[in-house]
Amino acid sequence: MINTKISEIDELNIDINEIKKYSELLAQGKTVIFPTETVYGLGANALDESAVKKIYEAKGRPSDNPLIVHICEKNQVESLALSISEKARLLMENFWPGPLTMIFKKRDIVPLTTSGGLDTVAIRMPSNLIARELIRQSELPIAAPSANISGRPSPTRGEHVRSEMDGRVSGIIIGGDCDYGLESTVVDMTEDTPMILRPGSITKEQLESVVGKVLVDPSIEGKADIKKAKAPGMKYKHYSPNGDVFIVMGKENDVVDKINLLILENNKKGLKSGVICLNENKKNYDGHVIGLGENLEQVASNLFNALIEMDKLSIDIIYSEAFSNEGVGSAIMNRLMKSAGYKVIDA
Ligand code: TXA
Ligand code: MG
Repeated sequence: MINTKISEIDELNIDINEIKKYSELLAQGKTVIFPTETVYGLGANALDESAVKKIYEAKGRPSDNPLIVHICEKNQVESLALSISEKARLLMENFWPGPLTMIFKKRDIVPLTTSGGLDTVAIRMPSNLIARELIRQSELPIAAPSANISGRPSPTRGEHVRSEMDGRVSGIIIGGDCDYGLESTVVDMTEDTPMILRPGSITKEQLESVVGKVLVDPSIEGKADIKKAKAPGMKYKHYSPNGDVFIVMGKENDVVDKINLLILENNKKGLKSGVICLNENKKNYDGHVIGLGENLEQVASNLFNALIEMDKLSIDIIYSEAFSNEGVGSAIMNRLMKSAGYKVIDA
């Protein structure tokens, strides 16, 4: 067990002296969890191998899964990436700070421990002000994966990191709920045409409006190729609560009937069922129902929290409605499918 220092910091009224206590921990090669606009991150000095190893240990994460390096000024990219294409510069201008991660060929200064053995490095400049101030005070690039135990849903609320990571890291900054609630869009910029390796809140359409054609890693859509995924993280069990998740697809009324029938059968077996759905459909379901919101942005921001809430209720089986694949919907369905282990029930 590590002794964990925990503070609450208000993003709109940042206490710099409090942040400095945590940037000092980072400078000493220790781990600190901090809020970002996507999900909470588990940070350490990206240039210090022994510090980065502590991240993998705290998460129980396979070490071939590379980390995203977080910066607080755009020009820090120059010291980490070997070359920066014109398209990458355009994307930086348009979407940084924010939920976009770009992959570049790495400079030698970035240890292979950080890049998961690859010759590339993932870089992102977050918009969350606590994250940026922490990075600025540490005067370091900060490697940070999502701050969950490997395989679990990513933390989007302060209480998630407090309950899951206290004792596993040196510091935790609690800074409210994450705005987007899903991890950043990851885009490979090492080839001429950018390729989305992980969908997120910045959509393909948004990227294309700035740099023209953008490809999508084919393994994102189907289960078949997932082991060949170019973002190594995409191949592991992911986003999984204790309960077994199923996605139920079909016409709206059929989905409702099917889920309620399955709940009835589960009740007979003594299994507790939960349902996650759009708010407007909450009234249709029996069992423990959590509304994710009224639109896709709200669904994205509440999805991981709902899965974690289901664990608190000791739910055995979780049914989810399917959501539109438009815009941020593709990121939602990507996380939901992985969380369900691709188990889909046709209504
Ligand atoms: O929003 C986010 O991106 C959050 C916050 C904390 O910034 N971070 C995050 O990190 O989601 P993580 O480690 O949970 O996910 C990083 C993803 C993984 O799928 C990983 O395989 C991929 O990015 N990745 C990192 N470096 C890569 C590289 N050099 N080449 C290809 N994929 C890479
Ligand atoms: Mg993660």
